[in-house]
Amino acid sequence: MSARKFMQTRLNRRQALGMSAAGAAAIAGLPLLRPGTAFAQDAESDLEIFSWWTAAGEAKGLEQLFDAFTAANPGVNIVNAAVSGGAGSNAQVALATRLSANEPPDSWQSHTGAELKARYVDPGYTTPITDLYEEQGWNDVFPQGVIDQITVDGEKYLVPVGVHRGNVVFYNKQVLADNGIEVNDDWSIDDYFAAQETLQAAGIPSIALGSKDTFAVAQLFENTLLATLGADDYAKIWVGEIGWDDDRVTSAIESFAKYFESVNSDHAALTWDGAADLVWSGKAAFTSMGDWAYGDAVTKEQDANVGWVHHPGTAGAFVSVIDGFTLPVGAPHPNNARNWLITVGSPEAQAAFAPFKGAIPARTDADTSTFNEYMQWSAKDFGENTVVPSLAHGSAASPQFQSSVNDALITFIVDFDVATLQEALQFAQEDEG
Ligand code: GAL
Repeated sequence: MSARKFMQTRLNRRQALGMSAAGAAAIAGLPLLRPGTAFAQDAESDLEIFSWWTAAGEAKGLEQLFDAFTAANPGVNIVNAAVSGGAGSNAQVALATRLSANEPPDSWQSHTGAELKARYVDPGYTTPITDLYEEQGWNDVFPQGVIDQITVDGEKYLVPVGVHRGNVVFYNKQVLADNGIEVNDDWSIDDYFAAQETLQAAGIPSIALGSKDTFAVAQLFENTLLATLGADDYAKIWVGEIGWDDDRVTSAIESFAKYFESVNSDHAALTWDGAADLVWSGKAAFTSMGDWAYGDAVTKEQDANVGWVHHPGTAGAFVSVIDGFTLPVGAPHPNNARNWLITVGSPEAQAAFAPFKGAIPARTDADTSTFNEYMQWSAKDFGENTVVPSLAHGSAASPQFQSSVNDALITFIVDFDVATLQEALQFAQEDEG
């Protein structure tokens, strides 16, 4: 067994035995990491960062974080281990394989909430960073609601880097103007379908979808569910306080089917960013997507002709999709890994990352005067709206539930059988217990 694997096995054992981190580190022969500002760089001067940020805006955002890390830690070689696939569809599988083989990278990307807990904290793959929160003063700068989503049994496990909004529709301003379509904050699902009819008559796909990314389908569905139930009941459905047999779920599914009357015909072949390109180039009118799509437009310098509004019928609700980074148990370069988290949590790195990524900084003390117009809009709503979680991005329910819903939705967009989808949603909930 390699020294690292041995150490990893011991560390995993300590989790099983409930031993303290300090005790386990001593057994494993690891240097003890004490709170303090400076962490010596490791003798091995690599830092391997795992994410799924490979699309234009995603990669550019990640590059800002790397640059900020390098500025503070010159001489460390960053290994970008990103695995492409929107919303982590491929990355999460590849990471699971590495983690079960005790071969973690130095840090990996995760969403807050159910995904962090079920995939990484509960199986013992992550090290608590509660001390880093104290040391860096993060308890005072991240919103309490976000801190709650990264805390398990009193310990903190992730540094949030940016807050995305999931319920946004981006549109091509020219296409809307050419077709006499206006959108506003009060627009409803019915208003959307009226616009869809106009576009259909003009021969332009109303909504651009990249269903090669299953998450894009799930996101369109959850936004429709939110529009139909309202924020409070949408939140209740994830915790079992409203059943999937509710009549309003039936009507949400019916509305969901209706988008497909005017969707790009090649949706099964496109990813989310390929679908966004159709809007940027005027080949479709709208795309309902998280605001990483806006980062994509900014990075591709297409943003001048791109407008935004919340998904129809969801005013007052903010679907949050929060990304952050973890500290693994058995990080190959633990000091570099902690320094990476310090960078990720810093105001400078978060400010540099946000515009290209389309997010707003997770820190509440960010200088909003540097925000672009989209970010100002999102930040204001994040502060004032009812914030609700996303199933499509792992926070609202367990990975098993998410995967059952994804399977059912992929079948639905072929057969459009409303009753079968609703039953599948009920079964998925029953399986959850
Ligand atoms: C989300 C993630 C975003 C964005 C998107 C598309 O799950 O939180 O950062 O990358 O997937 O890949």
